[in-house]
Parts: sequence; C-alpha cells; structure tokens
Amino acid sequence: MPLIDSFQRKIEYLRFSVIDQCNIRCQYCMPPEQKLWEKQPNLLTFDEICRMVTILASLGVRRVRITGGEPLVRKGVPDLIRRLNDVSDLDEVLLTTNGIPLPTLARPLRDAGLEKINIHLDTLSAEKFCKITYGGDIRKVLTGIEESQRVGLQPIKLNAVLQKGINDDEVEDLLRFTANHGLILRLIEMMPIGPGRELMPSLYMPVRLIREKLAEKYTLSPTNPHLGGGPAVYYRVKELNTVIGFISPVSEPFCGTCNRIRISSDGRFQDCLAFDGTFSFRDLLRNPLMTDERIAAKVHWLLSGKAESHDDFQQAADIRTPCMTGIGG
Ligand code: GTP
Ligand code: 5AD
Ligand code: SF4
Repeated sequence: MPLIDSFQRKIEYLRFSVIDQCNIRCQYCMPPEQKLWEKQPNLLTFDEICRMVTILASLGVRRVRITGGEPLVRKGVPDLIRRLNDVSDLDEVLLTTNGIPLPTLARPLRDAGLEKINIHLDTLSAEKFCKITYGGDIRKVLTGIEESQRVGLQPIKLNAVLQKGINDDEVEDLLRFTANHGLILRLIEMMPIGPGRELMPSLYMPVRLIREKLAEKYTLSPTNPHLGGGPAVYYRVKELNTVIGFISPVSEPFCGTCNRIRISSDGRFQDCLAFDGTFSFRDLLRNPLMTDERIAAKVHWLLSGKAESHDDFQQAADIRTPCMTGIGG
C-alpha cells in the first residue's frame, strides 16, 4: 500500500540522517559547544538503514537523501550509497553535505554511484565563513566543489541560508559564482529551530526580498527545471544564463505539497521538520522477531499522524532539542 497521509499527500521522498555530528558549527544550526552526540551503538547500522530504506521503497519511496549533521563525518558513506543504489524500486540516492570532506570523498562517492549532490555554503568570504561556522576553512569547501565537478557530479546545488546583514549583500556574488561554475544557487530562509530561534529576530529575512531585488536588475522568469523533489521554487536568470531556487519555509510554507518523511540517525521517525520525532525504529530493527511487514504497518500508522502544517514552528520553538543536526534539514 502506498504511503498517503491523512491529507492525501503522497510520500515519495525520504531524508535519512546518518549521523548527528558535524565538523563545523553554523551559528543558526549548532551551538559551538554542542557535543550531544549519539553514542555510536545508538546510530542505526548500515544494515539497519538499508533494511529500513528497502521497506520504505516497497511502500512507494522513490528518492532517498542522505543527510546529517554532516553525513560524511560518518565512516563508509560511499559504501552505504553503493548499497542503497542496489535497493529495487528506488530511483535516486542523493546526498547533502557541507562540502568539507569532498576533496577526498567526491571520487569514492561518484564511484559508488552517486550522481548529484547538494552542498551547503552561505558565503564566499573566507573570513565570514570562518566566523559563522566557528572556525571552518572555506578552501576545503571550494576544493570540494571543484573535485565534485571534476568527477562528474551533476547537478551541484549550492544551498545558502539567507542571513540579514551577513550574506544578503552577497547574493549577487554567489549567483555569479554559481553561474560561472555551472552550479545552481538556492537561498533558504532561516527557521526558528535550534539556535536559529534566537537568531531569527536579527538575522531572518524572507527570500522574497532578494527575489524582488534581483528582479530590478535581471530578468527573472519562473521555471520548472525538474531539479529535484524538494521544496525549492526556481527562476531562470536570463542575463546570467542560470537558475536560482528559493526555499521559503517561513514566509511561504510548502506544507500542502509536502512529499517527505525523515528518519534520524538514531532511527526516530520524523514526519515533519518542525516536530520532534519520538518513535524510534531502532528497537524494532533490533528485535529478531520483527518482520518487514510489521515495520511497514508501523510506518503507515505513524504517517496517519502527520500534521497538516508546521504550525508556524511553534512546537519546534517550544520543545525542540538543541538543533537540526540530527534531522538534517
Ligand atoms: P532537492 O531534491 O535537490 O530539491 O533537495 P532538497 O531541497 O529537498 O534537499 P536539501 O537537503 O538540499 O534541502 C535544502 C534545505 O531545504 C534543507 O536544509 C531545509 O532547510 C529545507 N527543507 C527541505 N525540506 C524541508 C521541509 O520539508 N520543511 C522545511 N521547513 N524545510 C525543508
Ligand atoms: N534555519 C534554516 N535552515 C537550517 N538548517 C539548520 N538549521 C537551520 C535553521 N535554523 C539547515 C541547513 C543545513 C541543514 C543541516 O539544515 O540548510 O544544511
Ligand atoms: Fe553542520 Fe550543516 Fe549544521 Fe552547518 S548547517 S553546522 S554544516 S549540520
């Protein structure tokens, strides 16, 4: 039976976090002192992840995106990608990364069958990058992007969280950079989740303002380039012969067309980014008597409780455990 929730939304997209650790500390995502890592035994093993994905693919999931934290902090992710590429009924296995591990891992990932990649980068300034990530080295990300292109990952989408007074003045530079390098820029609105909640009053701005500003200078026309199954809305920028995507969870929520579920690195089922997942599949997966059919039935049961919308992130604001790192955006 396909995965359809109580609001007739069909679930075809799974975001699977494989680790909640990260090698940098984006200020809106993870506090610098954050060390609340899941101990390794609590993380789902690759066998458990593959079994879960196989069950979900049999229920209609067609794309799986590996996320983190920073997923490539976990050892062996290329092996996982290779194994997931063998899961029948799955059309795409994808990855979102901050790019830092890519100088060495782009090649093994490509060899494992990865074709496309999303890379997170908020700024092109080395100094700013270091500051907003508490010490990150932008050269690794830029080399990682180059290496990803060299090994043939395509398309490469660059995700930037828009931050007022930090990178809003840089959007045109980012757009030229992506245009010149054959990448796709996507601007994401900051959400009141994790440290983002405290930062919102000073740093949040709707991506619409940037779209309007760009439209004063460039010819922007709505386009549907089939660039993925996520919530981005794309525009063609005629003069730069490129495309830009806008992701606006706060100002223009896209819950009505939500097609995704998430599983956290410790196996928690998360039907929406804005609500804490409480039920974990980990114990079921570790119970030798548990059948795939019973796990599938549990997925259906959990999905029937998927909320219609994220309620202005109210619950996330009230009870969210420290940050998004275990959920992966
Ligand atoms: P494509 O398939 O390439 O379009 O990918 P995607 O946009 O689904 O994946 P990516 O990991 O690049 O996500 C970009 C960002 O979009 C995430 O980090 C989140 O900030 C945001 N995002 C993705 N899905 C959701 C969602 O369901 N709800 C909310 N509020 N934000 C989301
Ligand atoms: N607002 C918006 N996006 C966030 N992310 C993390 N925290 C926030 C936030 N407060 C996203 C980033 C990152 C992923 C882990 O989650 O896009 O890539
Ligand atoms: Fe790490 Fe991504 Fe969070 Fe930045 S946004 S701290 S790269 S998980």
